Amino acid sequence: MNQLNHNQRDLGQNGREQWATKIGFMLAAMGSAVGLGNIWRFSYVAGENGGAAFLLIYIAMIIMIGVPIMMAEFSIGRKAQSDAVGSFQNLSPGKPWVAAGFLGVASAFIILSFYGVVAGWTLKYFTGYLTGTLWSEPSGGYVDYFVGFIGSPLEPLIWQFIFMGATIGIVLLGIKKGIEKANVILMPTLAILLIILGIYSLTLGGASEGLAFLFSPDWSILSEPSIYLAALGQAFFSLSLGMGALITYGSYLSKKERLPGATAGIASMDTIFAIIAGVVIFPAVFAFGAEPDSGAGLVFFTLPAIFDEMALGGIVGLAFFFLLAAAGLSSAISLLEVAVAYFIRKFGWTRKKTALIIGGLIFLLGVPSSLSNGPFSEFILFDRVFMDNMEFLSDIFLPLGGLIIALFVGWGWKKTEALQASDFGNSTIGAVWLFILKFIAPVAIFLVFLFALGVL
Ligand code: TRP
Repeated sequence: MNQLNHNQRDLGQNGREQWATKIGFMLAAMGSAVGLGNIWRFSYVAGENGGAAFLLIYIAMIIMIGVPIMMAEFSIGRKAQSDAVGSFQNLSPGKPWVAAGFLGVASAFIILSFYGVVAGWTLKYFTGYLTGTLWSEPSGGYVDYFVGFIGSPLEPLIWQFIFMGATIGIVLLGIKKGIEKANVILMPTLAILLIILGIYSLTLGGASEGLAFLFSPDWSILSEPSIYLAALGQAFFSLSLGMGALITYGSYLSKKERLPGATAGIASMDTIFAIIAGVVIFPAVFAFGAEPDSGAGLVFFTLPAIFDEMALGGIVGLAFFFLLAAAGLSSAISLLEVAVAYFIRKFGWTRKKTALIIGGLIFLLGVPSSLSNGPFSEFILFDRVFMDNMEFLSDIFLPLGGLIIALFVGWGWKKTEALQASDFGNSTIGAVWLFILKFIAPVAIFLVFLFALGVL
């Protein structure tokens, strides 16, 4: 009896799990958005695309396209009260819009399979700073250390296994006791840690150069078409858009909450995190004479080399890789939840069984990605190793999913229903929102899509 009461308290009126508090939902959505994308991906993409000018375009893309699509996902999920697939089936039965849901579940498998590999690397670096191994330069240097580590057959798999185990462990505890609780602990910790790192970085010799790179635009870069597309792609990835992660999170929200305010808060927080990550990374990069455009390795070999030269660098490294691993975890949870929510409904399994089976399958799908940096590096398909093919697939699936979501709300959903579901009602801003979803967002996403395919 006790157990029954207990379970009932966790469920909403319609029998679905729900967030305990509005702030819990906000923190969970921020946890999904803030991840490897804000720190690792943002810094190297901004570094490769000229810094400040990229940042401006990126912010414009977030406001003009990212926020409207985030509103679309939350509105769909909260109105339909179902997972990524079920939401479209509830709102628009028998219509092809549900393709976005299936695409989303497939994307969850694909993205989490390689996200778990990279997050596993961050765990390895975190423990390297914990034990002191990385406090001084390994023999052969930081580049060899990284390449040797990711190329070894077994060790990265062990870290990936541990990371996926933690992700599964949180998701199987459920919405309130697992996902919400983890984020309520992790997100404030991350914010404090990032601010401390930012302040520390500003005291370094390269601060003015680093800040100029990030905040003082070189306008000539605006004539490069690729910068707009890189900015939109980054906005999608960083805001967790295009695969129903935010439909799924929105479905655990009660009808009482107001969506526009929550969306503005989540999107601003994600952007602020990326900017502060830039404030942490670029002054350090310039202070130690490294190059901002050294690519995806920026975090794994440039930064450890920089930490090595800093006073208290070991502690800074420890804090930095903890931050990265924890941010990766709160994002990985949301990726797994998309697939778990779908299969719980589809097969009627318990949450625990579903999380273990689906999480296990995603781990297995990640194994060839991990091995593709070592034993499988000769196994090339379409000119790419396995892990790069997975990333490439996600570059196609996310914009495609976002395109369908925008078109569904803009054209497929009854106008009055969409406006009511979003809490915009009959306001001007509601009309602007629908106009963007009808015309501007689809065209912009279409361009990103061509870019990802290499057509442009
Ligand atoms: N936004 C996360 C990051 O920045 C990654 C992520 C989590 C994601 N869930 C997602 C990306 C859903 C796209 C879709 O690291």
